Amino acid sequence: MKIYNISQKNLNSAANSILNGGVVAFPTETVYGLGALASNNEAINRVYEIKKRPKNNPLIVHIHSFKAIVSIVKYIPDYAYKLTEKFWPGPLTLVLPYKTSGKINARARANLDTVAIRIPNNPITLKLLKKINLPIIAPSANLSQHLSPTKATHVLKDLGSRLDPLKDMILDGGECNLGIESTVVDVTSDVPIILRLGGINSSVISKTLNIEVKIQKSLREKMKSPGMMKKHYSPKTELRLNAEMPIHGEVWLGFGKEIKKHDVKSKNLSVKGNIEEAAVNLYSMLRELDEHMAQRIAVAKIPNQGIGEAINDRLKRGAIKKSLIY
Ligand code: TXA
Ligand code: MG
Repeated sequence: MKIYNISQKNLNSAANSILNGGVVAFPTETVYGLGALASNNEAINRVYEIKKRPKNNPLIVHIHSFKAIVSIVKYIPDYAYKLTEKFWPGPLTLVLPYKTSGKINARARANLDTVAIRIPNNPITLKLLKKINLPIIAPSANLSQHLSPTKATHVLKDLGSRLDPLKDMILDGGECNLGIESTVVDVTSDVPIILRLGGINSSVISKTLNIEVKIQKSLREKMKSPGMMKKHYSPKTELRLNAEMPIHGEVWLGFGKEIKKHDVKSKNLSVKGNIEEAAVNLYSMLRELDEHMAQRIAVAKIPNQGIGEAINDRLKRGAIKKSLIY
């Protein structure tokens, strides 16, 4: 499988590939997505297979302009409209009531009567979506439960052998500039519920709406967003969080200026202590440290402000022991 750089020609080929039922990995501002036509049953099935994704975990529909939403959702509550005005295009996904005449494949929605939608904020993604001019589903382009990809090489490593070089493509738009997935907000009832923390901090959403937005912490009987599955976003190596220093058998993932030089393989999410920089580096550095087959990755305490909220959410999920997967 080859990686294609961004050129007019390659964007046209990628659009054609998707229109012909292929699957294309493309960059977004959050993480790389694995895109396919939202109405194409066969392509959707392949996306689930390629990712080894459980069939009950629905996909996000990506559109390039707000106009497209009319044919997909029944209605948008006033408060949710406020969110779209403020955060689209951007790392916000809204779960909305699905319009039965919509053309989004039932499997892509995991047969729910809702649909998740976002307008991504990356010029390459928007260009590609515009060329196709139809709704595109795009889950993160990684194997289910693993770390999301923030570089094209991550996609190649995870999915290269599972994609078809004659039908599919991997586009390289450089490193994603946010590094963490979108915030998923369920707006199907009177009060919004955050199903997945992400690129937009929960307090910013609360402030915008002037209410305290609820965050769904655990799995309910009916899984509202399987992306909230406890074990998720995880490297193969065990994680130890809020560590002060590495101990025997551990590699180190630091944050901020460190006085002591650690004697083990180590990475630093942001020497300057910049939380946005840490988000960009998170998945990439965890992938690198994962390759050392250490006993554990010890991770320094990460401040919870801004996108730090989502970083800590992912680290916590990644730290859950394999024996606890359900
Ligand atoms: O930033 C992102 O959102 C990236 C980029 C590529 O756009 N995409 C992404 O997709 O992270 P994925 O499939 O890895 O995560 C989608 C999340 C999952 O947690 C899924 O359960 C949830 O959205 N979701 C999708 N449709 C839903 C629905 N109808 N109701 C509740 N949750 C839904
Ligand atoms: Mg994902």
